[in-house]
Amino acid sequence: MTGVGVRVRAPGKINLSLCVGRRREDGYHPLSTVFQAVSLFEEVTATPSPELRLTVTGAQAERVPVDETNLAWRAAQLLGDTIGLEPLVHLHVHKGVPVAGGMAGGSADAAATLLACDALWGAGLSREELSELAAELGADVPFALLGHTAVGSGRGDVLSPAMSRGQYHWVLALRDEGLSTPLVFARFDALADPLVVASPTPDRDLLAALRTGDPDLVGRALGNDLEPAAIDLAPELVETARVAEEAGALGIVVSGSGPTVAVLGRSAQHALALQAALTAAGVADQVLGAHGPVPGARII
Ligand code: C5P
Repeated sequence: MTGVGVRVRAPGKINLSLCVGRRREDGYHPLSTVFQAVSLFEEVTATPSPELRLTVTGAQAERVPVDETNLAWRAAQLLGDTIGLEPLVHLHVHKGVPVAGGMAGGSADAAATLLACDALWGAGLSREELSELAAELGADVPFALLGHTAVGSGRGDVLSPAMSRGQYHWVLALRDEGLSTPLVFARFDALADPLVVASPTPDRDLLAALRTGDPDLVGRALGNDLEPAAIDLAPELVETARVAEEAGALGIVVSGSGPTVAVLGRSAQHALALQAALTAAGVADQVLGAHGPVPGARII
C-alpha cells in the first residue's frame, strides 16, 4: 500500500506446451496449452485521480502505449462499467516482464489492474467474476490472475489448475524487437499443415512429467506449435536454441508467440551456467533467470 493506493503484483508466464488448432470463424485459434507462471513480475499501483491516467516505468517502458489501447487502461474501464463507477484512477505500471515477448506482460498488467481497482473501489468481486472480466480483455489475462500451473483451453482463457511438483529453473533469452501475436498466428495459418486438428488436446506427456517433478522429463516434453511461425519471423532464434542445447539445457521452447526463448536448467546453479553461456555467446539482447511456478496476481 502507498497512502490510499493499492499495489498488485502479477507474474509473466511461459507456455510449457502450446498445441494450436485450425483458425476459427471469429479469427481466434483453439488452443490447448500448459501455462507456468514465472518470477518476472509486473507491478500496478492504483490511486484515486480526477481522471483515468496511466504511467509506465521499468524495462522497455518507452515501448508501452499509455492510452486506451493499453490493456490495463481497458481493464479499469471494464471494471468501472461493470460496477457502474467512473474509472477515476491513476494506474502506475512498473514492468518486469519483457514487452511483446510472448510472456503475457500486458495481460499481467490487465489482471493486476482488475484486482487493484476492485480493492480501491471496494467492489468486492469474486475471483470467478474477475476471471470472467479478464477473459473479455484477452486470452492470457485469466491465467495472470490464477498463476501457478494450469491447462488452458478454448482461446487459452478456459483454465483448469494442473498438478505440478517442484520448482523449475529457467533462463529467458530476450530479443529487443518483439513479435506481434496476431502476426505470428497469421504466419502459423500460412505455414500450417492442412491436417491441423480442429480441437487440440492437452499434452499428456508433459502433464505426467510435471507430476513427477523431474526436470529431465519436463525438459523433453516442452513444445510449441507456434515455434515454426516465430522462427520464420525471427530466424536468429535458431542460433539461440543451438547455443542453449550445446550448453546442456534440459529443454528449450519459444514462449507463446515469441520471441522469448525459455531454456530449462537442472537446478538454480545449472541455470546460472546456462545464463552465462547464452550471455557470452551474444545470441540474445538480454538473458534473465526466473523460477516457476509462482502465484497469480496478489495485493502487496
Ligand atoms: O486475446 P489476445 O488479445 O491476447 O489475442 C491477440 C491476437 O492473437 C488475437 O486477435 C488473434 O489474432 C491471436 N490469437 C489467436 N488465437 C488465440 C489467442 C490469440 O488467433 N487463441
